[in-house]
Amino acid sequence: MRVVHDIASLRRALAELGPVAFVPTMGNLHAGHLSLVRLALRHAGAVVASIFVNRLQFLPGEDFERYPRTLERDRELLAAEGAALVFAPDERVLYPVPQTYLVRPSPLAEELEGRFRPGFFHGVATVVLKLLNCVQPAAAVFGKKDYQQLVIVRGMVRQFDLPIEIVAGETVREADGLAMSSRNAYLSPTERAEAPRLYRTMTEVAAGRLAAEDALAALARAGWQPDYVEVRRRSDLALPQRADRERVVLGAARVGGTRLIDSLEF
Ligand code: PAF
Repeated sequence: MRVVHDIASLRRALAELGPVAFVPTMGNLHAGHLSLVRLALRHAGAVVASIFVNRLQFLPGEDFERYPRTLERDRELLAAEGAALVFAPDERVLYPVPQTYLVRPSPLAEELEGRFRPGFFHGVATVVLKLLNCVQPAAAVFGKKDYQQLVIVRGMVRQFDLPIEIVAGETVREADGLAMSSRNAYLSPTERAEAPRLYRTMTEVAAGRLAAEDALAALARAGWQPDYVEVRRRSDLALPQRADRERVVLGAARVGGTRLIDSLEF
């Protein structure tokens, strides 16, 4: 497996690989990311992963500076999973000048996560478009935990006519249901013990035993600061109509100092 840090080396390495499937990440990899690599391997002969902590998708005061950077360990994990190439640019490579051209995603970007993290999806869509242009994969894999990101990226690829198949990877969970996330590392032992409540509560909503509004109250009673728990239509995250059978519950809430998000299809 090769690791390259600039776009010219990436393009040279890609020229030797043929069609690739792509897994974009911000590093600090866990089993969830590795399952996306395995899924990617089913979609092309070679897998390229990127590791880049994208400043544009962090709001002032968020965890950009302290986001864990673990390139050496990530490299070993990706090699063991069979990735062929890792693109790990630093900021001067992807943003040699301030990025003043930004992707403005659909209005969906202002809802759910976007209500609480304004500008987040502009940052995500911009870096994803840049990475897709750099790697030019046949397929790119995004996890369902970040369901709104998946739907927004899918819409962007469709509307910009990018010849890339967007593949959705299932959420990988700890034994107690907590969705794997790099940010779980921020949880104290007490918060870690409490963290699966978000998944359990959302499971109740998906099963129709709890209304989404009551889920917010239940989380708040347990000491959480919930941002949203909402049921949407899977395909475009519109509010579901009676006929919409394929639904997803999306939620975000803060336990102690850590904000967790999750989503469950039903
Ligand atoms: O999901 C992530 O890790 C990031 O949002 C992504 C897609 C790598 C873009 O920075």
